[in-house]
Formats: sequence, C-alpha cells, structure tokens
Amino acid sequence: MSTGFPDLDAFLPRLEAIPTLGADAFEAEHTAILGRKSGALTAALKTVATLPVEERKRYGAALNQLKGRFESAFAARTAALEEERRRRESAGVDLTMPGRRRWTGAEHPVTRVVDEIVDIFRELGFAVATGPEVETEWYNFLALNFPADHPAMDMHDTLYLDAPPAADEPGGKLLLRTHTSPVQIRVMQAAPPPVRVVMPGMVYRNDAIDASHLPAFSQIEGLAVDEGISFVDLKATLNHFAHRFFSPATTTRFRPSFFPFTEPSAEMDVECQLCHGSGCPACKGTGWMEILGCGMVHEAVLENVNLDPERYTGWAFGMGPHRIALLRYGVRDIRLLLGGDMRFLEAVGRPGRTGGADALGMTLSPEPRP
Ligand code: PHE
Repeated sequence: MSTGFPDLDAFLPRLEAIPTLGADAFEAEHTAILGRKSGALTAALKTVATLPVEERKRYGAALNQLKGRFESAFAARTAALEEERRRRESAGVDLTMPGRRRWTGAEHPVTRVVDEIVDIFRELGFAVATGPEVETEWYNFLALNFPADHPAMDMHDTLYLDAPPAADEPGGKLLLRTHTSPVQIRVMQAAPPPVRVVMPGMVYRNDAIDASHLPAFSQIEGLAVDEGISFVDLKATLNHFAHRFFSPATTTRFRPSFFPFTEPSAEMDVECQLCHGSGCPACKGTGWMEILGCGMVHEAVLENVNLDPERYTGWAFGMGPHRIALLRYGVRDIRLLLGGDMRFLEAVGRPGRTGGADALGMTLSPEPRP
C-alpha cells in the first residue's frame, strides 16, 4: 500500500521483508529503521518540522503511519522468533517420558519399632537411659550373677577387645556388650530406687549371619525396682505393652526360663501376628512368637549394687527390636533389615503394615483374625 510519498514508498520492501529476518538481521534492521540515533525513519521524522505547513501535515501523518506499521511488524517478528527459539530448545525432549517420582525417605523399620516401644513405656512413667557398647566383664557378666565359667563368657560367644580397661573401671577384660543388661547395673548404681527405666542400644555377639541371626543387633532393656514390686507388676506391664504394640486382641503367654540375673525367669510369647495362633510357617506351627526374656531381679544382682533385697524387689526384661520388626512386618529374612534394598525399605516405610512389601516376596501377609 503506497504511502503517497516516493521517498517513504522506498521503505515498503524493507517492511515486507521483516517476517523473513533471522534474529541477528532482525536486530540490525530494527536499529537501521527505528534506532534513536541513526534510524532512517527517525531521521525522516526530524525533517518534518522544516517542511511548509501544508506538506508537513500530510507527510507527517504518512510518516507516522509508516512508523506504526514498522513497529507492529517488528513486534510480530519478535514474538515469532521467540516461539522458534522455544521450539528449537525443546526439540529432542520426549514429552511422553514418565516424570521422576520424588524420592521420599522413610524411617527404618527397626528405628520405628524402637521409638514405638520406648514411647509406650514413657507413657507408663519410664525414663530412658543408655550405656556404653564397650563394657567390662564385670558389668556385662559378673555383676549380673553369671558364674565366672559361664559359656557366654567364652571367646566363641563374645567379642573381646585387645585394649586394657580404663583404670577406674571395675572388672576385667573389655568386650562388646552381649546384651543391654549391664545398663541395669549402671542405672542402679547411679541413683537409688524407685527405678523405672528402658534402655535401648546395640549389642554384639560372635554369631554368623543367617536369615535369623546378626552379630550386631538392637535390644531394649526394661527395669523397675522399688519396694513391694512383684511378678504381677511384671506381667501386667508386659501385657499392656503387647496390647499397645501389637493389638488389643493379642494374647500372650509366659514360659518358665532361666537367666542368671533374674529369679524366677520367664520368656514371653505373643500370638503369632501372621496366623493369630492357628499355626503357620512363620511360627513353625506353634501359633506363638517369642518376643522377650524377663524375670524378677535376682537378689545377688541387687546386692552387687548395694541394694537391700529385703527392702527392694524389681523386675527386668530384654527384647530385641530387630526380631520384633520381623514379627511386626512379617519380614522373611533379618538381613533385609541391614541391606540397602530400597524396594524393601520404601515399601515397609509406606503406610499400612508392609506398604506392599508382601508383593515383593519379602514379607508374609497376615491371615485375617478368625
Ligand atoms: N539379657 C537377656 C538376653 O540378652 C534378656 C533379659 C533381660 C532377660 C532382662 C531377663 C531380664 O537374652
């Protein structure tokens, strides 16, 4: 469309060429036409004021209109170039590829079991205590009434250290504690009764690794010492624990047992969490699963920490959170708890009992309660 002025018409081919300009040529052309210092249209606009009045109006209007056409042509090209750039950048990107799921961590099943157990006892007024993993023979065995020739003290069962004990520690060689029971001794030495404490920690035994054994595993010790404490308190507390930790319908049984540091001693079983007592491979057909050892604190142990057994009585228990995690989640192999298999850890970390780890063949599904 002619502008009516030959010198302005001379710009029209350049106006029409704008949609074909590449990014660099576009910049140069934009400056050459509209640049504030050297732009051709800018220069032409400056001449308008020198024209005679009549011509000034017509020429000025035509020039302004032409400038407007250039401006919209440049704006349209800017948008088109931007769109081309975007398309180029996304070339080779497969938009149908599934996105990456955000990786969410989960508490380790054993950590969760320890926390839950500790919380249940905290509600009952128990404090939490910990002790050293490197112990002396005295704390680990002798103060707990093990006779000096007890087989547990053998190198085959216990991991001894070469280092000599610190001068102020009573009693014999250093070893990795084989249970959390030495913390009972440390707690009773530290403060007089009443004592109500749970003591979580790692313990070490000279055992080969297999589907149900680890040389390093967790225990939680419990101890209550006061005047007038009886076996009834022990049973009632541990039954309460089983109902809170497993389910209110869970049945328990106590079987007589032996530990040097408790008398009488017992082992507590809970009904198998997978078959609810009818018998399955996980409970070897018995319908029961052993979860802890317990008993009344032996008189000799009280005497070893200078407590009068005529005045004080107490009970103690020890349970293994690794084993309890196996029961709780129906885990087939204790080694899964140590391995880095993310499928297992993520599945067990998801809501629900195993979060679908059953489908991976790593856990057993519980049967419905009859
Ligand atoms: N210490 C025992 C063990 O490791 C468990 C236990 C603790 C038993 C306290 C009775 C009382 O097997």
